[in-house]
Amino acid sequence: ISLQPYNTFGIEAKARYFCEIKSIDDLRTALRLDLHPRKFVISGGSNMLITQDIDALVLYMNIKGIEVMAEDEAQVTLKIMAGENWHQMVLWTLDQGYGGLENMSLIPGNTGTAPIQNIGAYGVELKDSFVSCEAMDVGNQELKTFSKEACRFGYRDSYFKNQGKGKYIITSVTLQLTKKDHKKNTSYGAIEAKLRELGVSDPTIKDISRAVIAIRREKLPDPSELGNSGSFFKNPIIDAGKFKQFAKDHPKAPFYKISDDAYKIPAGWLIEQCGFKGKRYGDAGIHKNQALVLVNYGKASGNEILELAKTIMEKVRQSFDIQIVPEVNIIK
Ligand code: EPU
Repeated sequence: ISLQPYNTFGIEAKARYFCEIKSIDDLRTALRLDLHPRKFVISGGSNMLITQDIDALVLYMNIKGIEVMAEDEAQVTLKIMAGENWHQMVLWTLDQGYGGLENMSLIPGNTGTAPIQNIGAYGVELKDSFVSCEAMDVGNQELKTFSKEACRFGYRDSYFKNQGKGKYIITSVTLQLTKKDHKKNTSYGAIEAKLRELGVSDPTIKDISRAVIAIRREKLPDPSELGNSGSFFKNPIIDAGKFKQFAKDHPKAPFYKISDDAYKIPAGWLIEQCGFKGKRYGDAGIHKNQALVLVNYGKASGNEILELAKTIMEKVRQSFDIQIVPEVNIIK
């Protein structure tokens, strides 16, 4: 079976075996099948670059459902099953009047994979509303609950990307959202500007979502029109010593100070400075509005995209002495 419809990069690759998972029982049964020793999980397919056919039993996670676990007048706790589309779920929470996810509108992918890289946008990360998640142990097929601490969230990082890699499959995510006194975050410059443009001075959570959707539509390609995986690279973090020299050499460069000894530099800016923005090499390219996003114009192979990524990484290293690394999972 072709995996092209199941990865937002639109890479053509085949799965040896494929199985759609619609319940916890399905998942347990599939993990116990001895069809093939390797099991490979795919969900929204929005953060992966497949570089070859997948010789495994591919488990397509599609467990649906949203349940209210607890509620008072100020807050609500929701358990969201892994296969719920993230953005549809965010729109649903906003329709209920629940706040907390509005800045993360229009992020592609499913809810179950959101904790893996602690998704975030416009000043808000998943961890800000996260309570816990449930995951199935691949080894013994038992469900285990991971608290927020156990998930060890960092910038585009978690336990599931490190020690827990390949050991667990997230089946649901529990979030706590606000019903009143929403903690609105409009500090991000682009949001402020967009709200002004929309003529909104005292934004509701839906207004913030609208602004985020508009910004993302302007900058980020829609995977249904142009294959991509969002930001291909992480924004690099450099120490104070290195930053001092960098700022001296590039006084106009944007940066975010994270702590006294950590500065985040937008990789999109570094890549644009190297002249890559909007360039196309065969069917692989760099998006014209956001240099952090690599795109597939149609028939690019995973390896062609990967080669382009390596070229970019090398050029950025030579030009700035800064090593950028992929954010998407490279599947070999
Ligand atoms: N910039 C450029 N050229 C570019 C792109 C960006 O000069 O081609 C500059 C911008 O002018 C701005 C700065 O870089 O000064 C930051 O750009 P932007 O606000 O677009 O955000 P980003 O750092 O490029 C990150 C996330 C995005 C997230 C946005 C908004 C990462 C790897 N990416 O991008 O996440 O939507 O901030 O919060 O952290 C994703 O993970 O897939 C993703 C899209």
